[in-house]
Amino acid sequence: MPRRVVAGNWKMHKTAAQTHAFFEHFLRHVPALPDGVQVVIAPPFTALQTAAACLRGQDRVELGAQNVHWEQQGAFTGEVSIPMLAEFRVKYAIVGHSERRMYFGETDENVNRKVHALLEAGMTPIVAVGETIEQREAGVTNAVVVAQTRAAFENVSPEHAARAVVAYEPIWAIGTGLNCDPVEADRVMSEIRGSVRGLEDAPILYGGSMKTTNVREYAAQPNINGGLVGGASLDPDEFAALIEAARG
Ligand code: PGA
Repeated sequence: MPRRVVAGNWKMHKTAAQTHAFFEHFLRHVPALPDGVQVVIAPPFTALQTAAACLRGQDRVELGAQNVHWEQQGAFTGEVSIPMLAEFRVKYAIVGHSERRMYFGETDENVNRKVHALLEAGMTPIVAVGETIEQREAGVTNAVVVAQTRAAFENVSPEHAARAVVAYEPIWAIGTGLNCDPVEADRVMSEIRGSVRGLEDAPILYGGSMKTTNVREYAAQPNINGGLVGGASLDPDEFAALIEAARG
């Protein structure tokens, strides 16, 4: 069975001061969080140093980045590299999030470069894939997510793929309060799992308006190993309750 992971994607929310306030509160919940769920929080880059300082001395919560560049350094204005993230004990990086694909020109090729660079550096990519509402209505959901997944893992060995995390995030469910039916999400996620060798052992997360009120239904599905959570990860009490409910 792949391990369970709940990852909070804060997107462009929280200053360093607000991050400090979040962790002061959230860390009180940490001793009671279920052992079987790996917790990851991905704050903005500018809050990573504060987050890392707040998390010193515990190993229950790992840090993630919301993006990364595949080169170690160079003339790439506005980008952040793996060694820069490693300095703040970042272990995970979200790649291919639909917001990055839609608004910032993230391509399948770049996602693939990032996946290679992260796995070679011993970091865990959280590879996000998902269809638009038009694609779903046109009946091409499977083809879209399988193509995105295969492109992300092109020339990645099965051993490396097994160390990655994939997030299925139907774009129409992100931040909208609309939910993909858990059985349907599980069906798509089994297609994703079967599309690349190595993903049998990788956690596959559901993302898209996951909340304390619906997480149990997702966590009960055989192919759903946790969640990538946006809005509901911003409040420390709500996020802790969601993690508790994700134990399955
Ligand atoms: P949401 O975002 O939980 O706010 O829908 C999920 C995501 O985009 O990762």
